Amino acid sequence: MRIAISTGGGDAPGLNAVIRAVVLSALQRGWEVLGIQRGFGGLLGEAQAMPITRDTVRGITHQGGTILGTTNRGNPFSWAMKRPDGTVEEWDRSDEVIENFRRLGLGALIIVGGDGTLRIGHQLFLKGMPLVGVPKTIDNDVRGTVITFGFDTAVNTATDAIDKLHSTAESHQRVFVVEVMGRNAGWSALNSGIAGTADVILIPEIPFDLERVCEKIRAREGMGRHFSIVVVAEGAKPRGGAEVIKEAASAGRVARLGGIGERVAADIEARTGKETRCVVLGHLQRGGSPTTFDRLLALRFGAAAVRAVEAGQFGRMVALDPPNIVTLPLEEALSGHSGVPLDHDSVQTARDLGISLGD
Ligand code: F6P
Repeated sequence: MRIAISTGGGDAPGLNAVIRAVVLSALQRGWEVLGIQRGFGGLLGEAQAMPITRDTVRGITHQGGTILGTTNRGNPFSWAMKRPDGTVEEWDRSDEVIENFRRLGLGALIIVGGDGTLRIGHQLFLKGMPLVGVPKTIDNDVRGTVITFGFDTAVNTATDAIDKLHSTAESHQRVFVVEVMGRNAGWSALNSGIAGTADVILIPEIPFDLERVCEKIRAREGMGRHFSIVVVAEGAKPRGGAEVIKEAASAGRVARLGGIGERVAADIEARTGKETRCVVLGHLQRGGSPTTFDRLLALRFGAAAVRAVEAGQFGRMVALDPPNIVTLPLEEALSGHSGVPLDHDSVQTARDLGISLGD
């Protein structure tokens, strides 16, 4: 048996742990493993498909990134190609992917990615490719799994940043706005904001009213607390307004969010007169060594994916359904995105702690 593994979409801490678990579990069964480089690029001749051995995966559990490389521009169903005149054409190269998969003598492909990559995987499965998915994202917005690996590390990074900003905020009597990643899910902002004792947390699921935010800051001033920390999810939007887009969607890729933090900071300064600074964490949240939680989840996911291949459970994804790792059909995971439910106890906890959610 020869199987392959590829990592797609944005990198996340824990990808290398999944790769190690897949490779060791497969070798244990006497199988061979190929590493497909740069998402599906390695099955399209745009990058390589190379054998991975025990040596390749030695000492990588704690390393961030992915030894296979990744891309969030590599959808084989709408592959972006530049024409000589500079315009971009989208081209369906999925048949090529299937052909190359067969040519390499592969019995299964394990794809590790977020909703975009899993959707591509599902389409390839429907075209006949035996495939198992492993959910990954720092945004924690994939349905069907209680949590994705990468998220815990990203939240820890944000909490650490908020902790550090407290001292400057207090010393200078400033307001700090911290913009965190998460796309249209507020998990990262909510969890890091609560853990880091933010005063205001703005998430995409609860459109905010800036006046309410300023009321909170003024109330703190009245209590002699001359600084405030506002955590803003990159996808947060004002009531009746839209999210802030940094780069519009283009061939083969979704729009890039970002910029809400600066806007909120400018508005707070204008309305309250408080000196306000914005810090955008951005890709810092995707880097670094995975936490113990993420390593363990990633290793469990990788080993479970190989067991799923062995059991012929194709078109499925591994998921955490505590205390077990289970598998479920990919279409279940793709039936929508998993944002913060408004009745989630963390939302209530934030309110009970006196944190303003801007509403
Ligand atoms: O999905 C992970 C993520 O980091 C999001 O939180 C963020 O919006 C996006 O990817 C950024 O993508 P890029 O690396 O293309 O800037």
